[in-house]
Amino acid sequence: MTWRLPAALPPLPDPPRAPTAVFPRPSQQEFRDVLAHLPAGVSVLTTDGAHGPAGLTASAVCSLSVEPPLLLACVDNRSRTLARLLDHGTFAVNVLRRDQTDVARAFADPGTGQDDRFAMVPHRRAEQGAIVFDDALAWLSCRVQDTFPGGDHTIVTGRVQALSHTHGEPLVWHQRGFRGLA
Ligand SMILES: Cc1cc2nc3c(=O)[nH]c(=O)nc-3n(C[C@H](O)[C@H](O)[C@H](O)COP(=O)(O)O)c2cc1C
Repeated sequence: MTWRLPAALPPLPDPPRAPTAVFPRPSQQEFRDVLAHLPAGVSVLTTDGAHGPAGLTASAVCSLSVEPPLLLACVDNRSRTLARLLDHGTFAVNVLRRDQTDVARAFADPGTGQDDRFAMVPHRRAEQGAIVFDDALAWLSCRVQDTFPGGDHTIVTGRVQALSHTHGEPLVWHQRGFRGLA
């Protein structure tokens, strides 16, 4: 038997009506509680400048593009490092090891000054003046490519200029605590 397309297809049913109920806006606490389930690696973003090195702990970092090599970081607009990073035009992502919890805490503590933060971790100036940690699990130095507004954060994209990695276990942020992978 030959199957034939009917000359006229029956009309499609009416699309479902747009919901009239407005989805309630989640509270900041609910939003944080839900995203606390999302594990993330922990890095320290570093930059340089007339006032010396500056850096902050960041978990909102991810790859963006392979060709060209781009990554992105989301930085709180209140971060004192953000203006310095944008002013200098370069930054490095230092991926922390499982045993670098103290470094992560220092670079996240608003009460710890930049000099004290950097005194905790052996570091050097690498290619294009990027500040990289000697003991980082991996690092990438970037030129700031673009910035985009992201609510109370700024999305900073970086064009990767140099990079390096070793072997080891990463530090992970999950459920508001520092953990390893196991
Ligand atoms: C595990 C962890 C991850 C964090 N991730 C980010 C992040 O992705 N972006 C950000 O702006 N702040 C992040 N923070 C908060 C900053 O590290 C913190 O606000 C820091 O004091 C900013 O320093 P600054 O004001 O000297 O730049 C994170 C903190 C912790 C503990």
